[in-house]
Amino acid sequence: MLGDQIPAVGLGTYGLTGNDGLSSVKSAILLGYRHLDTAQTYGTEENAGQAVRESELPRGSFFITTKITAKNLGRIRQSIRESLILMGLDHADLVLIHWPAPYDEVSVRSYIGDLARAQDEGLCKLIGVSNFTRRHLDEALAEIGENRLATNQFEQHVYLQNRVLEDHCMSANIRVTAYMPLAGGNVSDDAVLNAVAQKHGVAASQVALAFLLNRGSIIIPKSGSRARQQSNLAAKSVKLDAQDLEAIAGLDCGRRYINPEWGPAWD
Ligand SMILES: NC(=O)c1ccc[n+]([C@@H]2O[C@H](COP(=O)([O-])OP(=O)(O)OC[C@H]3O[C@@H](n4cnc5c(N)ncnc54)[C@H](OP(=O)(O)O)[C@@H]3O)[C@@H](O)[C@H]2O)c1
Repeated sequence: MLGDQIPAVGLGTYGLTGNDGLSSVKSAILLGYRHLDTAQTYGTEENAGQAVRESELPRGSFFITTKITAKNLGRIRQSIRESLILMGLDHADLVLIHWPAPYDEVSVRSYIGDLARAQDEGLCKLIGVSNFTRRHLDEALAEIGENRLATNQFEQHVYLQNRVLEDHCMSANIRVTAYMPLAGGNVSDDAVLNAVAQKHGVAASQVALAFLLNRGSIIIPKSGSRARQQSNLAAKSVKLDAQDLEAIAGLDCGRRYINPEWGPAWD
């Protein structure tokens, strides 16, 4: 799958703005993060690019994702060039459509081809989408064909496992990227996760992340703290058994944190 090129753990950068944000992104890189998730609307493209450039590590060792905001759907390639200038990079590794057009006012068909052209022109290595429902994905595939989209990034955590959409992505060879994988930090006090965590001698947050990795999702937890960044990255080595997975699967209750009124009708 194309999306297998995406590192399994990335740093979410929402909120990592200003000098403190830059220090946090740099601390993550020092800890070993090589995948950074930014967006045109986060105000973190500059910090992501600066942290990469100043790391003095080869550009090829990084995987940088940005996302096209709704107001740029009619000027996708130009807006990617502007993002690249802000980041000080000559290409992105992955560019996503951040959301389907608000209220579906513009069809997927009318803009997805332009994203594919951006890839053809070398502005980015991979393309994908975010917050796309099954219907939006099918419209995109009908327009640009199978095996073009590397990932669909959507809200996925222990309380919103999103299995219907996950299955649809898998069957179209599209990797799932889980955003808000820590449910915004709300997993730490969970009794079920803490019981599993205690059994393995790890943190509840690591169990929540390991569960998603076990399902095959790419995860992009955000933390501004070095200690929590380190803990989140180390979730890769937490191994859950069948009993753990069954208990955590039972936490799914459809609790959605990101649900703008202009957003799509969710699956
Ligand atoms: N495509 C989209 O529409 C979309 C939407 C939302 C998010 N995203 C992306 O997904 C990323 C992650 O989502 P998110 O930032 O909203 O939520 P998240 O990663 O689930 O949670 C982040 C929150 O959890 C805290 N936290 C981090 N590590 C922790 C740990 N080990 N233990 C306890 N608390 C911890 C953080 O605080 P500290 O910083 O203080 O550690 C922060 O408050 C974003 O940064 C963004 O890149 C994409």
